[in-house]
Amino acid sequence: MLSRLAQSDLLRQLEQADSFVSGEQLSGRLGVSRTAVWKRIVALRAAGYGIEALPSRGYRLVRRPDRLAAEQIVAGLPPGGLVGQRVVCLDETGSTNVEAFRLAEGGAVEGTVVLADRQTAGKGRLGRRWASPGGVNLYLSLVLRPTVPPYEAPQLTFLSAVAVARAIEVETGLRPVIKWPNDLLLGRCKVAGLLNEMSAETDRVNFVILGIGVNVNMTREQFPEDLRTPATSLALELGRQVGRNRFAATLLAALDGEYSRFRVDGFAPVRDDWSRYCNAFGRQVTVAVGRQTLQGPFAGIDHDGALLLRLPDGRLERILSGDVSVV
Ligand code: BTN
Repeated sequence: MLSRLAQSDLLRQLEQADSFVSGEQLSGRLGVSRTAVWKRIVALRAAGYGIEALPSRGYRLVRRPDRLAAEQIVAGLPPGGLVGQRVVCLDETGSTNVEAFRLAEGGAVEGTVVLADRQTAGKGRLGRRWASPGGVNLYLSLVLRPTVPPYEAPQLTFLSAVAVARAIEVETGLRPVIKWPNDLLLGRCKVAGLLNEMSAETDRVNFVILGIGVNVNMTREQFPEDLRTPATSLALELGRQVGRNRFAATLLAALDGEYSRFRVDGFAPVRDDWSRYCNAFGRQVTVAVGRQTLQGPFAGIDHDGALLLRLPDGRLERILSGDVSVV
């Protein structure tokens, strides 16, 4: 294992050079063998630096890693917003939702955001895992303290889905589709997922954690093989990398806009926006609810976010949780 100091010495040499620096020059300047230089190059590459190596010319820095940086994210936010009043960026955590929950229990202000470069125990819906490799994606949890009764808190899931869809559109020009309740798809592939958790008493919400995972620059090889839903990333769809700090700022600004409107006008405008991104209206869908599978035309979402399914006998079934597929 190489020390960070040894890596940063070499990095400084590469940063200062306009073009290639030979291995011999580097070993002379750093006072180490050429094998030691090579080991540091390998370590820097593993940390996300792109270093070109040509036998005749030496080494050249071609790409810096896209490091998450709270100051860069905050600099990209419109002034005076509630979301992003405090931004915590971690290199690694089990789950940003767990960390945000802990901060919220300790009294963190509304609008606190926790981001991590990588998660070691990223949580997905229904007890599943969320693949969370480092250096490529966005794993973000937002603390909100809405003054709504607990049964209305699921409305915030729809609000976050709309904000993620907006951010994707603004930053990439791609048009995502929302699949009830909280999957964001590009084509038929999942690009983002939401996991919202809550602390509440019988008649009041203490806080809600909006957990958002966006596959930003993930490569095909980084997706687990046993995925239930085919998945993609923004970079795979675009054929280019997307800056994570900038994307995070756009997403937080969208969340701020949606949340301030929700506080004034309630759920109706969120539901309208959500409906515009949903591709299932009127279409036949099947919904797996536990061991049962229901089928019928998708009739929209209710005031609390429940899925409305028209059954063959004409009744409208309200479904609070399940997996939907368009037939
Ligand atoms: C899903 O299954 O679609 C929901 C995935 C939610 C993943 C995000 S990543 C940030 C936050 N922290 C977690 O552990 N999960 C959510």
